[in-house]
Amino acid sequence: MADTAITVEGAEKKYGEKKALDGLDLTVARGTVHGILGPNGAGKTTLVRVLSTLLRPDAGRIEVAGHDVVTQARAVRTRIGLLGQHAALDEELGGRQNLEMFGRLYHLGARRARVRADELLERFGLADTGRKAVGRYSGGMRRRLDLAASLITDPEVLFLDEPTTGLDPRGRAEVWSAVRSLVGGGTTVLLTTQYLEEADQLADRISVVDAGRVIAEGTADELKAALGGDRIDVVLRDAGQLGAAVALLPLDPADVRVDADRRLLSAPVTDRMTALTGVVRALHEAGIEAEDIALRRPTLDEVFLHLTGDDRRAKEPA
Ligand SMILES: Nc1ncnc2c1ncn2[C@@H]1O[C@H](COP(=O)(O)OP(=O)(O)OP(=O)(O)O)[C@@H](O)[C@H]1O
Ligand SMILES: [Mg+2]
Repeated sequence: MADTAITVEGAEKKYGEKKALDGLDLTVARGTVHGILGPNGAGKTTLVRVLSTLLRPDAGRIEVAGHDVVTQARAVRTRIGLLGQHAALDEELGGRQNLEMFGRLYHLGARRARVRADELLERFGLADTGRKAVGRYSGGMRRRLDLAASLITDPEVLFLDEPTTGLDPRGRAEVWSAVRSLVGGGTTVLLTTQYLEEADQLADRISVVDAGRVIAEGTADELKAALGGDRIDVVLRDAGQLGAAVALLPLDPADVRVDADRRLLSAPVTDRMTALTGVVRALHEAGIEAEDIALRRPTLDEVFLHLTGDDRRAKEPA
């Protein structure tokens, strides 16, 4: 079998005059998790719909699981699973009944459907709640059941379109661990997200998409390195000491941003702990009082500011 699960070369798709995909390229290796990271309207859902044969591209060469999405759409369909924004689950039925129904829908046969439903409930930690009506599930449980439903046919390639949008942190963590458990099974996963942290947690490689094309690609570490990695923020008690602090801190003064109104200085760091202990020690020795010191990762906004080199993102509502 080929090493590549998804190949996209020059994909284009327009809605009227609007270019949703504008020459998008993508290669996803088999058995990996690939993150598509992009803001609202970047073209993530359009890409997933094209890859899953729900939408016909205007141009480009696009192969999924070894088959062309236009000329061999049926072959593609039997090899993929899709978790869209809303799965068609019956709220009144229990999780087990829903999964069995999906199995029957995909012609598994009653016995096979029952076995598969049990396997999947077990795998996603839903075995105890299999009888509870889906309408009474928490957000995280609901999404795990969606995920189980998309795996009924044991797909080679699974598409997850914003799998954790709208979930609370706990539900998000539950879904993350469910997605991680897929990877061991050899499934290739393509997941879209607006959250840098989610791509960071789950994806082997990440394509950053903006305006229908890939503007950066790499591992989470590679992308972060391109962004200058983590940052340290230091808030002083006395704004008058900002200049002195910049001079004596173990940070490159050329990289330090100073915001006098907020008594804040902020700088990229290469090693988090070395930077933190160095800053604490230097301030202490100089007798400069800090009100707050924090290490933080770049925000998604900063990623896009850095990558696109303009500030139009900041003006768009999230
Ligand atoms: N059916 C449609 N008709 C017209 N324009 C559309 C249609 N679907 C999407 N678009 C436009 O195409 C662009 C890409 O949309 P798409 O839904 O693929 O983005 P997305 O990255 O999934 O966004 P989100 O994060 O909001 O889900 C957007 O500008 C969107 O407004
Ligand atoms: Mg979308």
